[in-house]
Amino acid sequence: MSHFLYKNKNLFCENVDVRDIAEKYGTPSYVYSKKTLEENFESYFNAFEKNQGLICFSVKSLSNISVLKLLNEKGSGFDIVSGGELERAIHAGANPKKIIFTGIAKSNEEITAGIKRNILAFNIESEAEMHRIEKLAAAENKVVDVAIRFNPEIDSGGHEYIKTGRKKDKFGILLDEILSLAEHISNSSFLKLIGLSCHIGSQIINLNDFKTTAQYIKKLAQEVNKMGVDLEFLDLGGGLGISYSNTDSPTPKDLIAIIEEELSDRSEKIILEPGRSISGNAAIMLTSVEYIKGKYLIVDAGMNDLIRPALYKAKHNILNAKKSDSVSEEWTIVGPICESSDVLAKDFKINASEGDLLAVETVGAYGHVMSSNYNTRRKPPEILVEGSNFKIIRQRETYKDLLRNEIELNA
Ligand SMILES: Cc1ncc(COP(=O)(O)O)c(C=O)c1O
Repeated sequence: MSHFLYKNKNLFCENVDVRDIAEKYGTPSYVYSKKTLEENFESYFNAFEKNQGLICFSVKSLSNISVLKLLNEKGSGFDIVSGGELERAIHAGANPKKIIFTGIAKSNEEITAGIKRNILAFNIESEAEMHRIEKLAAAENKVVDVAIRFNPEIDSGGHEYIKTGRKKDKFGILLDEILSLAEHISNSSFLKLIGLSCHIGSQIINLNDFKTTAQYIKKLAQEVNKMGVDLEFLDLGGGLGISYSNTDSPTPKDLIAIIEEELSDRSEKIILEPGRSISGNAAIMLTSVEYIKGKYLIVDAGMNDLIRPALYKAKHNILNAKKSDSVSEEWTIVGPICESSDVLAKDFKINASEGDLLAVETVGAYGHVMSSNYNTRRKPPEILVEGSNFKIIRQRETYKDLLRNEIELNA
């Protein structure tokens, strides 16, 4: 059940009228439903029936520390892709032994930070990275746990920019190179191979792609076992798609049932790294109509606040915070940024006039985290709703914040 619903024609997040939030914190602003985040996490956590599972929430999709804290309290681990995300997760109280470090360009500094924190594992993405981690592990005189991220050579994902599992993509290690890396690691004094991992893309609706990936991971695990190496986990990444326009999408239960069926004879823990399917439908972005100009509805949120429509041609549903019975008109909804790509929605039917408050739905994932200061605009605040209460969990930036790190020539 959605926790963003109209009550008496006014849009509510849980038990809070979103107009009260806009009045207190202004627009544009991101509003999260705590209940939605928790329910989405639980739908993964409770879905394992046969295998042991660990959910490592993908921090990149929504990295606010308060959100990480509440997921941590629910038992979540974290999938991180940078030293900054490591710091965030630790700051939120994460158990390092539930942190997986992925990413193709991990720097010396980031690897050493992960080693010092004793994280669960690094997902190795290339032979060169394997050697780098080995060298840094030796410098710290530690045996470091690693997994090999393989590239399953599968074309899956919602948009060209979020496909990651094709042979030509920059991610992971090709199937025919994995065993030689596994061999090297098994003979290393400073690396220990404890898992296999992959992530085939994002916004995946076809569960058959996960089935094929599970088949690959099982086959690879069998090959690695033949080398005398026992693995602790098999990590199938994130990627489960969600509904952006009231269409059907598979559930975590559907996904986990398929994976468990394929891996029923494996004893390793199954790790998943969901982002969007936990955070996506947990937020709306509030924005006000500034002006009407012909067919343009000009709002105060730009592509710097939500880049998904401009970057991925993503379509988000948009609601008026006050429902009206009059006939909707077709608008092109645009923001203030000086780019023609700053279009929130094209030919979109909605009833709206100057000064109205609108809510852009399903912006919890890859929303605020991808916001920027382009056009020297302040990043929007984030507000968390819990029942009848709401709390600010990130302030709107100030103009002072925007100038803080600059050093003037004549200073
Ligand atoms: C390695 C890895 N794991 C997990 C995720 C999360 O994906 P999603 O938000 O589609 O679940 C991503 C996102 O692209 C990723 O790159």
